[in-house]
Amino acid sequence: MEIILADVHGFCFGVKRAVDGVYDAVKKGRVVTLGPVTHNKRVLAQMADAGVSVVNSVDEVSVRKDITVVLRAHGVAPHVYEELNEKGLKYIDLTCPCVADNQKLAKKMHEDGFVVIVAGDAAHPEVVGINGWAGDAAIIISSFEEVSNRKWDNRRKYFLISQTTFSAEIFDQISHLLHQNIKNFSVQNTICKATIDRQNACAQLAKKATKMLILGDTTSSNSKKLYDISRNLQKNTYLIENIADLDLKNFSTCDIIGITAGASTPPDAIKEAIKLMSEIEKNLNNAEVVEQESNETENFEDMLKESVTTLHTGQVVTGKVISIVNGEVMVDLQYKSDGIIQRGQFSENSDVNPSDEVSPGDEITVFVLRVNDGDGNVLLSKKRVDAQRGYKDIDAAFVSKEPLMGKIVEVTKGGLIVNIGGVRVFVPSSQVSARFTRDLSEFMGQELLFSILELDKSKRPWRIIGGRKELAAKLEKEARDKALEGLEEGSKVSGNVTSVAKFGAFVDIGGVDGLIHVTELGWGRTKKVEDALKVGDKVEAYVIKINRETGKISLTLKSVENDPWHNLLTRYPVGSIVIGKVVRMMPFGAFIEIEEGIDGLVHISQIAHKHVKHPEDVLSIGQEVEVKIMEIDTDKRRISLSVKQAIDMDYDDYDDDYDDDYDDYDDDGYDDAAPEETTEE
Ligand code: F3S
Repeated sequence: MEIILADVHGFCFGVKRAVDGVYDAVKKGRVVTLGPVTHNKRVLAQMADAGVSVVNSVDEVSVRKDITVVLRAHGVAPHVYEELNEKGLKYIDLTCPCVADNQKLAKKMHEDGFVVIVAGDAAHPEVVGINGWAGDAAIIISSFEEVSNRKWDNRRKYFLISQTTFSAEIFDQISHLLHQNIKNFSVQNTICKATIDRQNACAQLAKKATKMLILGDTTSSNSKKLYDISRNLQKNTYLIENIADLDLKNFSTCDIIGITAGASTPPDAIKEAIKLMSEIEKNLNNAEVVEQESNETENFEDMLKESVTTLHTGQVVTGKVISIVNGEVMVDLQYKSDGIIQRGQFSENSDVNPSDEVSPGDEITVFVLRVNDGDGNVLLSKKRVDAQRGYKDIDAAFVSKEPLMGKIVEVTKGGLIVNIGGVRVFVPSSQVSARFTRDLSEFMGQELLFSILELDKSKRPWRIIGGRKELAAKLEKEARDKALEGLEEGSKVSGNVTSVAKFGAFVDIGGVDGLIHVTELGWGRTKKVEDALKVGDKVEAYVIKINRETGKISLTLKSVENDPWHNLLTRYPVGSIVIGKVVRMMPFGAFIEIEEGIDGLVHISQIAHKHVKHPEDVLSIGQEVEVKIMEIDTDKRRISLSVKQAIDMDYDDYDDDYDDDYDDYDDDGYDDAAPEETTEE
């Protein structure tokens, strides 16, 4: 077996510059990348571990001083810069210089009146960006068939450029056909040199290899192109994300194995592949000797599996817990080195103590972050396995519409970030609850059920939108129905004040809110609800009315026991003299409070022995006076008092005008007949 690595392979200049740029930025603060920096899961996983988040639009980024937005090598359309500047976000532009040149060229040709044609994939972010620089008016062509199928306007002039990672061969075909179809046509091949060199090296190697391994993510455009180029020349071509994904039964001792890698494949993935293939080669040689000696035929694949014990980054393996020290878990992986789950890699929830979850001897499934951290340890992550499981659960929940439990871990400008099974899910503010909530921070740390509303698996990481508006409304209704079931008018309930309005206070009485109207806050007169109750107060109330259709419940704080009119006649016998305080003046008399919530009227004729024209000529608000209880009408809740009679105990002057004037009043003590400006309130 011979193993040959392509002359040009792996990280290109632009991707390396972007990856290094992200790690430089991480040293200075929080980093958010606008789209994944590369199309390689391993690189993205390592970045996620370093705390780098990926968003798909500027809208999703919180405006915070410590956040830096990174623009990846693919570049972006001009409107993205405008959005970043408008939001005042700090950003680093790591657009590959080759892509930036392409954008400038597209802009210039568009401004010069050319229709810009881009040979490339219309959905690729680089092409989306270039189209933006061409006034969003570019024609995107990905195959020469599309050239034939389209009508070209020979009154216009066209200019062809290319996605930097496009296939040179297809570009030539497209260019050739456009020349034939369009009168006024110019072209500039903008495929970057790194791409051309990598494609040429791949083609050369494919011609002489018997098996070709293309290391790259299946979502990477340039890796797929390498695969296509190689496959045309060598049908035994395999596109694999990890060398461990290789099906060994296809290989034999006579193979010439060519290895190359896409522009987003990191160096350690290539090294791992070479190492494993070299070990295979070595074992094959040994196997040949053993076979000659024992004359036994052994399955090639089984033999390799037995002799080669490997671990690779990104692998999910099961081991046994050896120990838990200071929050770090040591794991036996049956590998030459033990694995370690460092703090922060055990669970997404930083409050979780590993000792509470696992014990020595327990089996544990982990994700290999790095095979060798430099000190010979295998770095592991349990939270990554949880997240993978979380992605699976989210996928299933999206289909089944079953809600999932999640913990609110962050409040952003546009909503909440919720941790659902180790996966960060965005919940827009409109979806947080059944009602509008101004301050979302009240949800921080809560664990609630969420539905998966949107799931786009074509994005890396997946674009997941969660919500609980409908769910919250349903749960509230269920709770309300249940609470209403056990509720009767007249029953006593207790609960906490949830909100206060001008007209009353709402009280949560166990899954359902009841309203205590301002007039029901007490037997006395309450001017402001806030004077009586505030949010959070615990109250005991009586149910006055239940509307089971609308779910509206009216409550009162008034009860017979706390009614100041209870036993009033016993406490204030008619004829007794008490000291009261003047609380209101009317043209026909003054109201005197004899105890809190109880006041009676001293008719103007009962204020003094002399003729009184206006009550305020004799009395003033707040003044304490001795009054005689003349009459108590407990049904109408009225008390007639006399100052005059308190002085001389003479009943003679008590006349019928008294009752007539009192009758002009409603229960609030207002004179319905009196002119408004004379009403003191
Ligand atoms: Fe730049 Fe070419 Fe790489 S355009 S990002 S150097 S493939």
